[in-house]
Amino acid sequence: MGKLKYGSNEQLIDLARQARERAYAPYSGFRVGAVVECRDGRLFTGCNIENSSYGLSICAERVALGKALSEGVRGFSRIAVIADTHSPVPPCGACRQVILELCDEDLLVIMANLQGQVETRTINELLPAPFDQSFLQK
Ligand code: THU
Repeated sequence: MGKLKYGSNEQLIDLARQARERAYAPYSGFRVGAVVECRDGRLFTGCNIENSSYGLSICAERVALGKALSEGVRGFSRIAVIADTHSPVPPCGACRQVILELCDEDLLVIMANLQGQVETRTINELLPAPFDQSFLQK
């Protein structure tokens, strides 16, 4: 995507909403969209991609992060995620762990639903007391 700086959370959510339309979710029917904002202003979208071997399904957040990483990006400022849920959709536990691995602790996670409800938390708030690379050293 372009180098456009998307200022507001609402604009990020709108991109995530568009990405959600591209979800491949024939098994759950649960469509998720995400967008990650890199520190240099670049934006990468993602949608969930399911598989007939259910466990191979990939979440929208990890698709967006994988696209960014594979383009050489390091350093993210915000990630937005949206689904058609009763309240703003939180990232699953696996995605929290991946976000924490790749992003700073102050990364903002913007959670939204199609009704326009929005909640924002840092990844640190969403995954307190995590396992991280510090535990790999004695
Ligand atoms: N899903 C995501 O894409 N992100 C999340 O954080 C929660 C779950 C997807 C995975 C699966 O394709 C569908 O939603 C139902 O769990």
